[in-house]
Amino acid sequence: MKLILLGAPGAGKGTQANYIKEKFGIPQISTGDMLRAAIKAGSPLGIAAKKVMDAGNLISDEIIINLVKERIKEADCTNGFLFDGFPRTIPQAQAMKDAGIRIDYVVEIDVADNEIVQRMGGRRVHLASGRTYHEIFNPPKVPGKDDITGEDLVQRPDDAEDTVIKRLSVYHEQTQPLVEYYTAWGKSGDPNAPKIIHIPGIGSVESIRDQVFRALGK
Ligand code: AP5
Ligand code: ZN
Repeated sequence: MKLILLGAPGAGKGTQANYIKEKFGIPQISTGDMLRAAIKAGSPLGIAAKKVMDAGNLISDEIIINLVKERIKEADCTNGFLFDGFPRTIPQAQAMKDAGIRIDYVVEIDVADNEIVQRMGGRRVHLASGRTYHEIFNPPKVPGKDDITGEDLVQRPDDAEDTVIKRLSVYHEQTQPLVEYYTAWGKSGDPNAPKIIHIPGIGSVESIRDQVFRALGK
């Protein structure tokens, strides 16, 4: 199973990715997590990426496309893979198509902007793994601690309210057109076109998980 999780910042891609990767035994390829790991490691990519990410802008297509191609080679993709936060521009999607990397499903999680601004305020993350919680909607077992390692949870620097608003506008301008891109590809009759699944992202984390599984035939 090869999947793309598409949705605005804070729509719940990372949260749902956790369930999907377990269910299907596939690696989660999250460009955001990869960039945060580069920042943590202090690599040249991390140093350059931090400024761009903290401002709520996108990293260049060229860097991201190379990063993903490398990651696909390294990861165990026997059962497929799950892209989380990639592609998020038309050139990124086109690069996958040109490379012959076939996708089965694009799962679009749809959440209104005002709901997202509220969610981001309460988000807490375990930086080393990318595991994500919410103080109220998806709390860890012990407040402020990761369920698996017990390590501290932190707020993401790009979750400040004005950065979230900027990220939402970047999403609407550069990423949302992908819905139209994949829809048009599907209508072209190309048998390699992925199927689009639309999931309204409002409701409990578990109810959204169940809708996603049902749509994927599980
Ligand atoms: P990235 O890490 O991909 O961030 P994003 O797409 O902005 O999405 P988020 O991780 O913020 O949200 P999410 O949808 O995963 O939501 P989550 O599950 O955490 O990218 C960060 C930056 O890296 C970008 O801005 C860019 O600079 C750069 N970058 C990354 N990929 C790139 C690319 N391909 N090209 C160029 N640049 C790239 O949930 C959010 C919160 O809501 C959590 O607290 C969660 O617990 C809670 N929640 C989840 N579901 C529910 C629910 N149903 N009800 C209530 N609360 C919920
Ligand atoms: Zn995420």
